[in-house]
Amino acid sequence: MIHFNTIEFIEKLFSWFQQNKRDLPWRQTYTPYHVWISEMMLQQTQMERGVDYFNKWIEKYKNPTDIANASLQDILQSWEGLGYYSRARNIYKSAQILRDTYQGTIPCDEKIIAKLPGIGDYTLCAIMGIAFEKDFATIDANVERVFARIFNLTDKNLKKACFPLVNALLPKGQARIYNQALMELGALVCKKNPQCSLCPLTSFCIAKKLNIENERPLPKEKKAYVPILASFVIIQTKEQNIFIRQRTNQKLWHNMWEFYGIDNIFFDPNIKANSKEQEHIAKQSIIQELTKILSITEKDIQLEAKAIHTTSTYTNHKLSAYFFIWKINQEQKQQIQKNIKGIFVTNSQEYAMASHHRKASLKLNL
Ligand code: ADE
Repeated sequence: MIHFNTIEFIEKLFSWFQQNKRDLPWRQTYTPYHVWISEMMLQQTQMERGVDYFNKWIEKYKNPTDIANASLQDILQSWEGLGYYSRARNIYKSAQILRDTYQGTIPCDEKIIAKLPGIGDYTLCAIMGIAFEKDFATIDANVERVFARIFNLTDKNLKKACFPLVNALLPKGQARIYNQALMELGALVCKKNPQCSLCPLTSFCIAKKLNIENERPLPKEKKAYVPILASFVIIQTKEQNIFIRQRTNQKLWHNMWEFYGIDNIFFDPNIKANSKEQEHIAKQSIIQELTKILSITEKDIQLEAKAIHTTSTYTNHKLSAYFFIWKINQEQKQQIQKNIKGIFVTNSQEYAMASHHRKASLKLNL
């Protein structure tokens, strides 16, 4: 690094932040509780929506003990619309630990905070740095973009490449402003389409000097998703009642409702999603499963010709799911009640479902 004036860099960054920072509710208090909740909410959520939910949340739950004393159902309801519900479940679990072990407060202890459910590197550093003003630097996608441009970083693992730089420039005792100023600069100025004319750090920016600010950061490599094939049967009685069951799988969509079926069918991954071939495999798999579970033969299972197909992308997986409609008679209904745990309902919209099941039920107006 030739001639990098750290003091000037920090002065310019901080002075820009003081003049341009958004008036965000947790910036009024910086209590560890407020910082924790805001950072959990903002992980997968746009700022505007995050602020709305944050204000309502803080009004309802004034401290971790209020959360711990509420019911999980209440917590999930307050979270409804933010998605990625594991965040709410983790907040709930963490709040119980804080209530039961730390008098309902978040202790200023890196090791204790790191052990709370749902706290990763980023959230840990945000709480330690922004709330407690300890020397912990946060690196989110905004900070990665800012540093990729300033230092012309082309590394595949940007976070790793940023880490020593972001930490080296952190002024001792000022992590609160430093972390937020970098994130704020990325969010407001050094955006995907950078607004260099507004930037306080252009004189430091290598990408700008080279006129390649639009080419940094390098585009992310296309992710290889693991294809998953699932097959379900929407069982319908003459009275239009629908059979659903509650999941017990702790890892995935725990306690949510679904149509009966198979989550993960072993298949040749070269077969395209939503092809006739894939649909055939899905159909045969669910028919075989039903003949195994119920005392009926294949020819008793007359599925409607047209299946509903959905695709959903998750962190590492791409799910292709088929839903086959099966109109059953009284005898078949008895077989199902005898052999599968679940219920017949008139309106499946009243039950919380994973999104692919919800999509299928909406397409059929069930
Ligand atoms: N994104 C997540 N947390 C933030 C914060 N404290 N300030 C600005 N942007 C953020």
